[in-house]
Amino acid sequence: METSASSIGTTRPWHMWPPACLPCTPRATGSSARRLPDFSPSKVLDFGAGPGSALWAMREVWPLSLERINLVEPSKSMQRAAQSLLQDLKGLPIIHSYDSIQALNRNLDKHDRRHDIVISSYALGEIPSLTDRITIVRQLWDLTRDVLVLVEPGTPHGSKIITQMRSYILWMAKRKCRKNGESSNVASSDEKSIVQSEGLLKNGAFVVAPCPHDGRCPLENTSKYCHFVQRLERTSSQRAYKRSKGEPLRGFEDEKFCFVALRRGKRPQEAWPLDGMEFETLKERLAKRNPEDLIIDFEDQFATEDDAESPFEDALVPYASDVAETNMFHENENEEEEQTHADLGSGWGRIVYTPVRRGRQIQMDICRSTKRDGSEGAFDRMVVTQAKNPTLHLQARRSLWGDLWPF
Ligand SMILES: C[S@@+](CC[C@H](N)C(=O)[O-])C[C@H]1O[C@@H](n2cnc3c(N)ncnc32)[C@H](O)[C@@H]1O
Repeated sequence: METSASSIGTTRPWHMWPPACLPCTPRATGSSARRLPDFSPSKVLDFGAGPGSALWAMREVWPLSLERINLVEPSKSMQRAAQSLLQDLKGLPIIHSYDSIQALNRNLDKHDRRHDIVISSYALGEIPSLTDRITIVRQLWDLTRDVLVLVEPGTPHGSKIITQMRSYILWMAKRKCRKNGESSNVASSDEKSIVQSEGLLKNGAFVVAPCPHDGRCPLENTSKYCHFVQRLERTSSQRAYKRSKGEPLRGFEDEKFCFVALRRGKRPQEAWPLDGMEFETLKERLAKRNPEDLIIDFEDQFATEDDAESPFEDALVPYASDVAETNMFHENENEEEEQTHADLGSGWGRIVYTPVRRGRQIQMDICRSTKRDGSEGAFDRMVVTQAKNPTLHLQARRSLWGDLWPF
């Protein structure tokens, strides 16, 4: 690993932030990757790299495509931690480490500075002022050829940072488009091929995940904040270290995180997933059944234990989030999951918080686009009932906090 000479000074030692944040970066990156099936980054920048967490996330999400990773990390102890964790690993990409963005810019030619993906994970919160954060995020966007991922703790403060940085990049990209006299909402194929062949940056920016729109965050200035949860298994040493009041700790913890993944270019204009679809009511469906099929289905007739109301955040289930987006509308619960991908159009809402079952209805809080071009969004409570729409009801039953929901 190469390291540039000067250090800006050390920050916190590497064992002092919650290791629970580590699986949130692969989760946030994985969520974005599932929306970008043809994206295979070869050059990566990890800002505030710490012990190189993003590198581990990248290896998990894109194991084959990585060729080069640049780390920006001012703390010498962190740099050493990263080095020792990577020691003896085989098949690593080329790794360069820099103390600061300025050091990276000094050491790289202008044409060599763009990265397919830039990640800042749990680092912006360490930058004390909003002005400095904005400066850094602008620099990170300048270093981004395609996708920028920002991850912060799932707290009101973390969410505020993500919301502000999201707004800033979208605003900046829009302003640049206006200056260039172009609309950021129309992509032409000629333009795409010129961009690809000349290595120029695409105009505009849009959100890949978690937001299905590029408008103002509808949770901004409300009592709620947008965040997600990753279940993390505790190691025995973590359990021993964190044991409180002699009580044994649970074998897992639910780590909350906030994130945004932004991509250069224009949000693709796709049909919405429910366009042209017609759904039967339960009554219509039952009327079509053959008399010999009319075996009493106890689950349909009576609310089961499962259907009892589940408290808001208590009912955390293991998060295989975004899995549901791959298997919409399967009538048969045992059917194998189809490996399809939700497109990047604005028709896929995002479920925020745990869906709540009340009898045979399911309530979900969904952030969704209210315009086809994805320019505005809203946070709506949606109630899906088995009587009105058994197909969507089945899908809602399988859905988890963080999954996509079709409109
Ligand atoms: C909480 S750690 C996160 C480490 C890693 N990204 C992760 O997710 O595990 C924050 C890191 O940001 C680094 N950092 C703080 N200020 C920085 C700055 N101005 N430029 C670059 N990195 C910075 C710290 O040294 C620290 O390693």
